[in-house]
Amino acid sequence: MNQFKKTYLAFIGGSGLYDLPGIQNLKEEDISTPFGSPSDKIITGEIDGKPIAFIPRHGKGHRFTPSEVNYRANIYALKKLGVTHIVSVSAVGGLQENTAPGTAVIPTQIIDKTTYIRERSFFGSGVVGHISFADPYCTDLQKYISKACEQEKVTTHMGGALVCIEGPRFSSRAESHSFRKEGAVIIGMTAMPEAILAREAEIAYATLAFVTDYDCWKEETEPVTVEAVLAVLKKNVEASKRIALAIHKHLPLESKNHIFNAAEFAIMTDKS
Ligand code: ADE
Repeated sequence: MNQFKKTYLAFIGGSGLYDLPGIQNLKEEDISTPFGSPSDKIITGEIDGKPIAFIPRHGKGHRFTPSEVNYRANIYALKKLGVTHIVSVSAVGGLQENTAPGTAVIPTQIIDKTTYIRERSFFGSGVVGHISFADPYCTDLQKYISKACEQEKVTTHMGGALVCIEGPRFSSRAESHSFRKEGAVIIGMTAMPEAILAREAEIAYATLAFVTDYDCWKEETEPVTVEAVLAVLKKNVEASKRIALAIHKHLPLESKNHIFNAAEFAIMTDKS
């Protein structure tokens, strides 16, 4: 059954984005989950009568590495609040000439290079399910992100694959070249398992990636450092907040989406 639901948008803030301005009736929700604690308290409230939530992926003060983030608790807590859509904001490296530092990318595919350190499914422990993940991101949500980026005059590329590495180290030059050959246009450390958990939870999910560096494939450019990443992020943080608020403004009050039923035919375990 694909019915309209009241839209509830949440943002997962990546490096550099630890809060959002303008939220009314603001609450800080301390939500417990069967998977442990989320990265931080979840900020909830509304803007112009529409609900909004925000969680900093790495916790306030940036305390969790990409491998340590409790992705299951974060997604479970957002689902518990009734969230229907998530925009994940992430800092990434650019793997193509045009995905240059200072631009934004709305990726349409994911290449997962993370390891099994990360808990990557809500299935298991007696319930077996296989979710379709051919198209990891919600195309409707991507259109709203694109519109907001255009409005804020940020150069934005729609499409391409994000390769997600385990980290926390950056890549070697050989890895960086190899990811380019595989067709990835940007590189990050947090897209997985966040994207698949959102899909298992039947939440529409899309990413707004801000390019901070050229990783280390480009001969004439210094290899990426945290210092370089932070310098670019600092310049982008205000724009990313404005874009987030514009996405929230444009999303309709009610929405219908096939992702809201993503798990309906995914479970193999006998329900009786
Ligand atoms: N985040 C920002 N830049 C990155 C890079 N080059 N590799 C992985 N994650 C990143």
